[in-house]
Amino acid sequence: MQTQSNCIPLTEEAALTALDRCVEQVRLNLPRYAGRCQNHSSVNGIYPACDNVQWTCGFWPGEIWLAWERSREDGFQAAGLSLVDSFYDRIVQKIEVDHHDMGFLYSPSCVAAWRLTGSQKAREAAILAADQLLTRFQPKGAFFQAWGPMGAPENYRFIIDCLLNLPLLYWASRETGDPKYADLAGRHARTCLANSFRPDGSTYHTFFMNPDGTPSHGETCQGYRDDSFWARGQAWGVYGSVLSYRYTKDPAYLDVFRRCLAFYLTRLPEDLVPYWDMIFTDGSDEPRDSSAAAIVACGLLEAAHWLPPEEAARCERLARQMLASLTARYAVPQPVPGAGLLLHGTYSKKSPYNTCTPEGVDECTGWGDYFYMEALTRLTGNWYPYW
Ligand code: GLY
Repeated sequence: MQTQSNCIPLTEEAALTALDRCVEQVRLNLPRYAGRCQNHSSVNGIYPACDNVQWTCGFWPGEIWLAWERSREDGFQAAGLSLVDSFYDRIVQKIEVDHHDMGFLYSPSCVAAWRLTGSQKAREAAILAADQLLTRFQPKGAFFQAWGPMGAPENYRFIIDCLLNLPLLYWASRETGDPKYADLAGRHARTCLANSFRPDGSTYHTFFMNPDGTPSHGETCQGYRDDSFWARGQAWGVYGSVLSYRYTKDPAYLDVFRRCLAFYLTRLPEDLVPYWDMIFTDGSDEPRDSSAAAIVACGLLEAAHWLPPEEAARCERLARQMLASLTARYAVPQPVPGAGLLLHGTYSKKSPYNTCTPEGVDECTGWGDYFYMEALTRLTGNWYPYW
């Protein structure tokens, strides 16, 4: 594992200072988004408020719970629990839930609330969300279909991001004692391992299966090109593979974590924060995706729990270097109402070759903020993951 950079690792003390700055920003934002969510990405640095209808709505309550864990202030707990009501209503009324992103939505909002407060409503909502995700399983091919009507040929595919939706299922099996959730999570993860990761450790964003369940081909949606290296996809691969290891202890997940990370490190610019697609490297004027660096830092710190001591120490050092760079060059410098935590994220950038809707380029993103805060929290003590 190459560290490739002279970035000085973030110290314990600096991590606490950075985390406290995040808590201050979340505190400042509470009244602005009361009972509502933040848009997936900021607009000129400020998040519009939105109803609880986007795939990204779990990140704002996730930040609130992390702020509560750090501060123990009642205002954060009240805000987190009021969002549990909203997430409960969303899943009961099935509002914008016919897609695979149940883990992104319900792990940082409701699994977190249940772990931290014992809220039975949060537990029920998270189990309903896990049930909803099971309805997206395609037995022919063994995968959770990401988007669109079930079985539609143009959407007979899964995406690498889905690895972060699987912990909700492992959690649901442990909670209910019913193995069906973990069973389908494992089947999806194996399909993803076999197809989303290329031999060199780089990844496809989306992967199509044939109607008979055999693998077809990889395509990008949010990356630059089908054969390029979408930075956030690579980051989901790093963190998602080690989260699968956390629940299954199958060494195949650690192997793929190592391969995916190794490729990621070969394409990083000097400051350890990737361009939005890693086909671009040092010297490019393309935008960065700071959120990918925050996600990878979380993956490295999770992996440090499971790897042999020397490798674990290298992972932790690398995470501290990435977080030092994010804190020094990418963190929002002063709290401002409506601002996020991490600048220079990229949600979806249009290229001549991809199919995405352009949104949130060089902005704060909900997940970038959340994972930056999660990584800092991981550095400051024994944190029990929401994932
Ligand atoms: N999961 C969608 C994204 O990372 O943009």
